[in-house]
Amino acid sequence: MKIGSFTIDPPVLLAPMAGVSEQPFRVLALEMGAGLATTELISSSGIFYQNRRTKQYMTFDRGKERPYSMQLFGGDPKVMAAAARAAMEHGADIVDINMGCPVKKVTGTGAGSALSCDPPRAAAIIEAMRAATDDRVPITVKIRAGWDDKSINCVEMAKTLEGAGCAALALHARTRAAGYSGQANWSLIASIKQAVKMPIIGNGDVLTFEDSQRMFQETGCDAVMIGRGALGNPWIFESTRAGKTLPPPTPEQRLALIRRHHTMHIAFHESLDDEESRRLLRTPPALMATKTFRQHLVWYSRGLVGGKEFRKAVLTLEDPNAVVDHLERFFSAAAVSAPEEAEGVNYQQAFG
Ligand SMILES: Cc1cc2nc3c(=O)[nH]c(=O)nc-3n(C[C@H](O)[C@H](O)[C@H](O)COP(=O)(O)O)c2cc1C
Repeated sequence: MKIGSFTIDPPVLLAPMAGVSEQPFRVLALEMGAGLATTELISSSGIFYQNRRTKQYMTFDRGKERPYSMQLFGGDPKVMAAAARAAMEHGADIVDINMGCPVKKVTGTGAGSALSCDPPRAAAIIEAMRAATDDRVPITVKIRAGWDDKSINCVEMAKTLEGAGCAALALHARTRAAGYSGQANWSLIASIKQAVKMPIIGNGDVLTFEDSQRMFQETGCDAVMIGRGALGNPWIFESTRAGKTLPPPTPEQRLALIRRHHTMHIAFHESLDDEESRRLLRTPPALMATKTFRQHLVWYSRGLVGGKEFRKAVLTLEDPNAVVDHLERFFSAAAVSAPEEAEGVNYQQAFG
């Protein structure tokens, strides 16, 4: 798949996920075989203040993350235009617009999925961003099926966005009202694919390599985007890159990857440490990193024998070295058990 002049190969993407798709996890996904890993949503107005959080979201590995795609949200074409320019100057190769976020705090400002109710403004945002960047970075968009079941308008949106110069479109095939419930309606991905010429990225409920194949076959999409299927399971990208389901990682392979992810995660948070961070966060970077890594440990331990006890123990630890001791002991011997319930994320709060 091409986005502007960039070839996305393999055409399998890590989904933007708030609190998850930060630099270490994106790099890991790319190393495992994802063709592109977009940042989590970043506030278009926040970019100007460059506060501590925005800095964290914008930081990327300039060597390994190429092309680098930054996701912005906002409802005001002027602000979005200036933010796109700032993103480009920061080093973004692609700028993605979040038009799917269902969270009230975002839709209440006319951003995220609220834009599906106002296609002309959505188009004006793309046009303003293109002008502000002199068409030097492709502008992509991620949408949902529509606001609710009575207003499914993703095909109309796709045509309008294409007309405004959108370079590629990702569809999370659920409405805003559906949140994360029910099943994604892949037939909408197929309908969009037939209605426009720009590349279409299918998204929703791809949890295995087989699912990704089915999505390509059933919808004709140009690329597949994986979100929850990659949580605690970046190995999914090894299978999609290989074009077949690979055997699950051995305990040694699993431990090695989690160890590396943990090291990268701690190093990332420590690299953001400065006076401002210390003043604003009041949490030392190692503790912050330890707390934010817990969700990954929850996901990595899903479906492993003894996972419940491991999670209980590790969720209270605050010392990174103690976390390493625990995870080494657990993952070096962990055997796969029956699938468990998903834990650790309230998807209704998620941002797309
Ligand atoms: C924890 C979490 C955070 C998310 N944050 C974002 C986000 O920042 N931007 C966005 O466009 N979508 C976001 N999403 C939506 C995903 O990108 C994706 O569209 C959705 O999870 C459906 O794909 P899946 O079935 O493969 O998970 C988020 C989803 C989750 C679970």
